[in-house]
Amino acid sequence: MKINNIDEFHCKIKRIILSEEEIQNAVKQTAHMIDSLYDGTPILLVSILKGSFVFLADLCKHITVPCEIGFMAAKSYYEATQSSGVVKITMDLQQDISGYHVIIVEDIIDTGRTLNDVVRLLKARKPVSLRVITLLDKPDRRMVDFQADYVLFTIPDLFVIGYGLDYGEYYRNLPYIAEFRQTMED
Ligand code: IMP
Ligand code: MG
Repeated sequence: MKINNIDEFHCKIKRIILSEEEIQNAVKQTAHMIDSLYDGTPILLVSILKGSFVFLADLCKHITVPCEIGFMAAKSYYEATQSSGVVKITMDLQQDISGYHVIIVEDIIDTGRTLNDVVRLLKARKPVSLRVITLLDKPDRRMVDFQADYVLFTIPDLFVIGYGLDYGEYYRNLPYIAEFRQTMED
């Protein structure tokens, strides 16, 4: 997608559904939950790129247990707002995760296909433990039976942008989460 000017850019932001403050409070709470769950045990946070990079950056700053960071890239959405249904691992972890307590950090679970595949792949590598934390969950859109261990916000079936989430690679840098305006009549 190509955005030609700033008016076009703003016009697609329909309404804010989660404010910066709401997100930051929930992220801090999640970090405290991780601290008490792992109680000093070292962990490996695995961020699924690109969508989760903002969430991961904020979350890890509030975690106090010893913590390594790893990145993986998986793609299931291309330029459209419908899932292609194809999950591709485009970048893999560099760590050998056996011996690690792993937490997968995801931006949003939609059909569930991405995480279903990523979890299956990582479990086969025998981590000591594996949990999934997602910022957003859209349970209405689920195509495979998948549930995260921890969800910060459950949202209705809307296409959302901001705080790492994109439309056509734009809007990831918004500090809040907004509904995307699909058409001008919308
Ligand atoms: P799933 O495999 O259908 O669960 O898709 C998960 C991926 O699709 C997420 O990690 C996002 O990158 C993308 N995605 C799903 N819903 C949205 C949305 O509302 N806005 C932006 N990206 C989304
Ligand atoms: Mg993603």
